Amino acid sequence: MLSVAIDGPAGVGKSTVSKLVANKLGWHCLDTGALYRAIAVACLRAKIDIKNIEEVKALLNKIVIEVKFENGIQHTYLNGEDVTKFLRTEEMDMLSSVTSAYKEVRNSIIDLQRNLAKQENLVVEGRDITSNVLKESKNKFYLDATAEERAKRRYKERIDRGEKVNYNDILEDLIQRDKNDMTRKVAPLVCTKDSIKIDTTSLTINEVVEEILKNVKLN
Ligand code: DC
Repeated sequence: MLSVAIDGPAGVGKSTVSKLVANKLGWHCLDTGALYRAIAVACLRAKIDIKNIEEVKALLNKIVIEVKFENGIQHTYLNGEDVTKFLRTEEMDMLSSVTSAYKEVRNSIIDLQRNLAKQENLVVEGRDITSNVLKESKNKFYLDATAEERAKRRYKERIDRGEKVNYNDILEDLIQRDKNDMTRKVAPLVCTKDSIKIDTTSLTINEVVEEILKNVKLN
């Protein structure tokens, strides 16, 4: 099976770009952040102390995370319930950033990710896809942009959605999440030597998609 592996920091536009790339290729797109977010939902619902690894470990034994593509769109399930609509909140941004640093959390969903990529051609996006999950992929990309540019995009996105947000809060949150993602001991976010790095700061979404498609090897 073929894959396109895309990593990069929070707010860089990975989800949007990855979905468009998948669309052009006629493949599905796996958003792996959704899996960490579904685990965060489980932690929140179980009211456990996420700073306590023993409590998180005990919870992992009780949960099953699954992914189904329905009409081309990823749905993420927690113990049989479709939790997709609960995943993209600020609370889950922070909770998933903390819990994804635990190796037990990461190990609990690695086979799921690899198995999905074994079943079909897939665009997979996250933080450790190029460095860990799909190390053997022939198509690896790292998207980057300054924290200020990413915060600006996030800010605009939320204002356009009618939300009341503060730019500085968004910037601080992104910087904190970058720190969590890049400095954790297990599978930190890195740009691997064999990844094509794309600085998206002054590129449009379509330009980034084109740049990726230009470099994807399909044989
Ligand atoms: O991409 P996202 O914001 O939905 O990811 C949610 C959290 O999960 C984020 O803090 C980083 C983490 N994550 C990870 O550690 N590894 C991945 N492959 C995907 C996400």
